[in-house]
Amino acid sequence: MSNRILVCDDDDAVRSSLGFLLTKAGYTPNFASRPEDIIEYITENDFDLVLLDMNFSVSINGEEGIELLKRIRLIKPAIPVILMTAWASVELAVRGIKLGAYDFVTKPWNNIQLHKIIETSITLSGNRSDEKVSVLKKRDKLVEFQAIIGEDPKLIEILEIVKRVAPTHAPVLITGESGTGKELIASSIHLYSTRKAKPFVKVNLGGIPASLFESEMFGYRKGAFTDAKTDHAGRFEKANKGTIFLDEIGDLNFSSQVKLLRVLQDQTFERLGDPNSITVDVRVLSATNHNLYSLVNKGSFREDLLYRINLIQIEVPPLRQRSDDIPLLANYFVDQAVKTYSLPAKSISREANEWLCNHPWPGNVRELKNIMERTLLLTKSDEIKPEDFIGAQKTGRNPDSKWNGSSGTLDDMEKQMIINTIEECGGNLSRSSEKLGISRATLYRKMEKHGIQTEKNE
Ligand SMILES: Nc1ncnc2c1ncn2[C@@H]1O[C@H](COP(=O)(O)OP(=O)(O)O)[C@@H](O)[C@H]1O
Ligand SMILES: [Mg+2]
Repeated sequence: MSNRILVCDDDDAVRSSLGFLLTKAGYTPNFASRPEDIIEYITENDFDLVLLDMNFSVSINGEEGIELLKRIRLIKPAIPVILMTAWASVELAVRGIKLGAYDFVTKPWNNIQLHKIIETSITLSGNRSDEKVSVLKKRDKLVEFQAIIGEDPKLIEILEIVKRVAPTHAPVLITGESGTGKELIASSIHLYSTRKAKPFVKVNLGGIPASLFESEMFGYRKGAFTDAKTDHAGRFEKANKGTIFLDEIGDLNFSSQVKLLRVLQDQTFERLGDPNSITVDVRVLSATNHNLYSLVNKGSFREDLLYRINLIQIEVPPLRQRSDDIPLLANYFVDQAVKTYSLPAKSISREANEWLCNHPWPGNVRELKNIMERTLLLTKSDEIKPEDFIGAQKTGRNPDSKWNGSSGTLDDMEKQMIINTIEECGGNLSRSSEKLGISRATLYRKMEKHGIQTEKNE
């Protein structure tokens, strides 16, 4: 049976065009035009979703919409309510979200986007009424998440949520300390979505200065500014039909937040220097290590933007709160590095595992991964011991060491080693490759991979 949707709007034109849209999308629309009818209909019928206009003409300030929402929530708390509001009264919609509305759209709406929101709300509310999210105890039920290592119930619960929300269009906000695996989770949401064959575009919003935000995100037309030599597609266009991952969203400056909000509202924007609007179909995932709620309180993060990105929120716990997973992860990283760099296999001693479990890991999984990779290189015996970590930590931190300037991954070390050797050999690549114990061709490949250039090539 098709899902029943109650459309509450006093504007005839809105009702008939929504009716048309919903019928075409396979839903059964019902209509209410007067506030007093809405309550009656909702009490007496079972709707799967309510589309509620916030600005009935009888009231000027939208208070009536808020009152209606409160009453609907009271009578049928399980029905998802989507608010419709004028672009100018987004604050009102945000208040509505706090009162339990599922999402909001601004008028005039975008049909595709509205359809997606409806679909998502109905799917998620169906899941919501499940008894309780069953936490899978057995890791092997989640074999598909092979690249995400761990058995901690908190992690398993996250993977459950990932599986549920991945196929929807719901925006997901992933929070947690740096290095906890937020990006890994974002990419697995993409991989388990129907968009997996389409682009996954990551943008580090902390790294984009306010002056470049628009050209970077929305693109530009040739001649839009001095350096615009050709037309250029922005990140949103590149992510079309796929997923955009807005990393470090808490670091986004205030003026860019407004511009971002607008695209997230209606998935429409213009390239710089081009008056034509572009509409895209993009799933939005965000991550931050800040507490956005306190940034909102301080006034440095827009509340309406927060409510636009956090329909689903996933909090990734720090590694120290899931220390049982540490030996698993450590072992995994050693195996991976052994494979990737063709190194002799090494095991981790019991004492070393204890040391790892007692370390506080302020840099979380990233720090663990780095230490394991570094340790692997420094350890002479075939078993890793606690003292090996001490050496590895020093190497990672000491700015005067040979591996300077690197954040300490094996990759960075390789790069630094190649640069140092080429320098020592005065730019002679044949001698450098000999000294490094690799073929000339391998050296060229590695130089290309690391973006290393020399003046002399012989
Ligand atoms: N559960 C995990 N299993 C395997 N690797 C992980 C896990 N969590 C994090 N990592 C790895 O740790 C590093 C940091 O993770 P990342 O997702 O970049 O963290 P964040 O975005 O939270 O800073 C990455 O190399 C990632 O692949
Ligand atoms: Mg990250």
